[in-house]
Amino acid sequence: MEFIELAEQRRSIRGYKPDAVPDELINEVLRAGNLAPTAKNLQPFHFIVVRDPAVLEELCAAYPRPFFHEAPVIIVICTEPAAGWTRDMHDGKNYCEVDAAIATDHMTLAAADLGLGTCWVCAFDPVVVSEVMRLPAGIDPVALLTLGYPNEPGREKKRKSLAEMVRYERWES
Ligand SMILES: Cc1cc2nc3c(=O)[nH]c(=O)nc-3n(C[C@H](O)[C@H](O)[C@H](O)COP(=O)(O)O)c2cc1C
Repeated sequence: MEFIELAEQRRSIRGYKPDAVPDELINEVLRAGNLAPTAKNLQPFHFIVVRDPAVLEELCAAYPRPFFHEAPVIIVICTEPAAGWTRDMHDGKNYCEVDAAIATDHMTLAAADLGLGTCWVCAFDPVVVSEVMRLPAGIDPVALLTLGYPNEPGREKKRKSLAEMVRYERWES
């Protein structure tokens, strides 16, 4: 698929068929995340693939929405801030969440290319996710990505126009 067509077709999917996702396809999605660029190539994140219905059930306590319950796979994207790049020469800003976001976006696009649906979920309870995932200290959950075969088309894309979003040369030219 042409890249721009893929970007247009990818939508957040909030309804899933119960069909299991083959491991080969899950691995393709993970590989796309693995190929994402990261600051200084530090790759300061971890992906936890949850397929076990018992663990999925526990995870649902962190985000009790029907579509989250339906997803046959949830990928928990965690950052390890101490392993990320920080802009020490200026303000010390840590870029691990930016890195994790790029990897997650790569995974959503790869999934769409494979005919799979995804939805970013960040409105979860991080305490519950950390407990259910048994995350050690220093590992933070930043996003939960549902993955499965869509049973709904997703919402029509609504975006600001480029004219509202893009400026040229300076803030005010
Ligand atoms: C950082 C981030 C957090 C999000 N968190 C949620 C969420 O908690 N629940 C949800 O249903 N959708 C969530 N979304 C999905 C957005 O609502 C969705 O991407 C946006 O409305 C655009 O729609 P589209 O993905 O279909 O293009 C999130 C997306 C991003 C990028």
